[in-house]
Amino acid sequence: MPFNSRHLHRTTLLGFTITAFLAIAFLFNEKNVQAGLFDQALAGQIALTNISESRSKKYPTPDSNPEAAYKRLDLAEKECTDTFPDLTRDIIEASQRGEFLLNKSDPDYKGFVQGRINDNHVRRSAHGNSLQNCLGILTESVKLYILSTAPDFTPEIIHQRTAILHQIHRAILTSPNPLPDTHFAFVINDNPRNNSWAFSRPNKVSSHNTWLMPLFGFWSWKSHSTGLGTMEEVLDRIRSVEDSTPWEKKSNKVVWRGTPWFNPLGYQHLRQDLLKATKEQPWADVQALNKDAGGNLLSIEDFCKHKYVIYTEGVTYSGRLPYHQACKSVLITAPLTHLTHTAWWMRPITAKTLMASGAQKHTDEANANQTMHSHFKPLLPTVLDWKQANAIYVDPSFTDLGSVISFLEQNPHIAKTISRNQREVLVMRGYLSPGAESCYWRALIRAWAGQAIISDEWGEDVGIRFEEWITREILHGKSERLRGKIELERSARQPCR
Ligand SMILES: *[C@@H]1O[C@H](CO)[C@@H](O)[C@H](O)[C@H]1NC(C)=O
Ligand SMILES: *[C@@H]1O[C@H](CO)[C@@H](O)[C@H](O)[C@H]1NC(C)=O
Ligand SMILES: *[C@@H]1O[C@H](CO)[C@@H](O)[C@H](O)[C@H]1NC(C)=O
Ligand SMILES: *[C@@H]1O[C@H](CO)[C@@H](O)[C@H](O)[C@H]1NC(C)=O
Repeated sequence: MPFNSRHLHRTTLLGFTITAFLAIAFLFNEKNVQAGLFDQALAGQIALTNISESRSKKYPTPDSNPEAAYKRLDLAEKECTDTFPDLTRDIIEASQRGEFLLNKSDPDYKGFVQGRINDNHVRRSAHGNSLQNCLGILTESVKLYILSTAPDFTPEIIHQRTAILHQIHRAILTSPNPLPDTHFAFVINDNPRNNSWAFSRPNKVSSHNTWLMPLFGFWSWKSHSTGLGTMEEVLDRIRSVEDSTPWEKKSNKVVWRGTPWFNPLGYQHLRQDLLKATKEQPWADVQALNKDAGGNLLSIEDFCKHKYVIYTEGVTYSGRLPYHQACKSVLITAPLTHLTHTAWWMRPITAKTLMASGAQKHTDEANANQTMHSHFKPLLPTVLDWKQANAIYVDPSFTDLGSVISFLEQNPHIAKTISRNQREVLVMRGYLSPGAESCYWRALIRAWAGQAIISDEWGEDVGIRFEEWITREILHGKSERLRGKIELERSARQPCR
C-alpha cells in the first residue's frame, strides 16, 4: 500500500540520517577534543562518559556558587547537609522517638492522605552517580502511589494536599541518591493523626509522633483573589522590595493584618489583645483585615516595607511565617505554641531580656526565668544575646509591645542587627530555597523510612500512581473518595542481590 511503503521509506531515510549524523558528531567530537577546542556544554550532551564529572561542570556546586546551588533540586545527600546545616533539626528529633508501626488509618479523616514511595530497588551503579536498576538499565524513576485520600471538598484542603503531593513527587524525581521504599501519611488540617507528617506540631514534648513537612506554599499559594505564586516568586518580589527599601526608608510602624477571631488554642484572645494594645497608637499599623475592594489588604512582600512585623499563630500555626521571615524586618510574636518547619530557624529573644541588655544591666538573673509560661517548656530555645537573635518574643497580651517598639527606635543598631540576622539565615543562606526544600523532603523520607515499620495490614494494596490520581482529581473538579485496594502490582519485583 502506498502509505505503508512511503512510511517505510521515510523511516529508512530517517534512520540513515541519524546514523550519519552520529558518525559525523563522533568524528567532530574526536577531532575537537584533540584540538582542545571542545565546548563543555556540547560535551555534556554528546560525550557523556563520566557523569559525575560532567555534572560538576554543568551545575554550580555549593562551594563554587552557593546562590546558584540553592536553585538546584538535585543536590546529593552530602551536598544538602553541607549547604544547609541544621536544615533537618525536626527530622532528627523525630527520628529519636524511635520505631513505630505504621498501620492503616481512617481514610476518611479530614485532610488525610496515605501514600507510598517506591524506588523499584534501584541502586547506584558501580561507577559514578547514574542510577541503574538491577539489570543495569539506566534509571527507572522513583514512583509515588496514592493509597487513600479523604473525600474532602474544602478548596483549601484540595489545594494544600495537591501542592504537598507535587512537592513530594518533585523531590523524589530529582533525587540523585536512591530513596528507600516506604509508606507515609500526612494531614493537612490542624489535628494530625498520630504517626503522620503535618505542617505544625506543639512547641513542647508531645506524645504525638508528628513529623514536620514544608508548607504547601513552597509549591504555590493562591490566597484571596490574587495568587502569591511559588515561594521562589514571592522571594523574588521580596528581594525587589528589599533592594528598593533600605532600612532607613522603611516605615517605623509595626505592621499586622489578619482575622481577629482566628486564634491559637493556647492564647484564645491573642488577636483581639493585639488590636486592643495597638489601637490608635502612632507606632502601629495594625488592622483587622478587610478584604473588600478598597480594603486594607497588604501584599505579602509589602510587609517587608516595615521595620517591625508581627506574626500571630492561627489555630496552630499561620502560613505567613516563612514570608515574614524572608523580610529584613524585626519579627515580633507571642511565644510560639506551635513549630513549623521554618520556625526551627527562629532564634527569639524575649522582650524582657532584650530591653534589659540594652540598658546595660547584668542580665543573667533576668534571663534565668525567662520562660513566660513555666508550665510549658518550649522545644525552640530562646537566645540571651540580641546579637544572636532574629526575632522577639513579646507577651501574648501585647502589653509590652509599645515599650519594645520604643526601645528598638532608640536602639536602631539592635533592630537592624535582628532584622539582618533573620534575612541572612532564611534567604541569604538559602533555607527557603527550592534546593533546601527538596533536600528537606528527601531527608524526611529517608529518616521516616528508617523508623516506620510498615504494618502487614497494607497487604497487597499498591495504590494508584500519582500521575493518574492527579488527572482524576482535576477531571472530577472535586475530591473523590479513594481507598483500599486499587490494583495489584503487575509483576512481582525481585530485590537486588
Ligand atoms: C569521574 O570524575 C570524577 C571527578 O573528576 C572522578 O573522581 C572519578 O574518578 C571519575 N570516574 C571515572 C570512572 O573516570
Ligand atoms: C495495627 O494493626 C495490627 C494488625 O491489624 C493490630 O494488631 C495492632 O493493634 C494495630 N496497632 C495500632 C497501634 O493500631
Ligand atoms: C503515637 O504513636 C506512638 C508510636 O506508635 C505511640 O508511642 C504513642 O503513644 C502514640 N500517641 C498517641 C497520642 O496515641
Ligand atoms: C526560676 O524558677 C524556678 C522554678 O519556678 C525556681 O526554682 C528558681 O529558683 C527560679 N530562679 C530564679 C533565679 O529566680
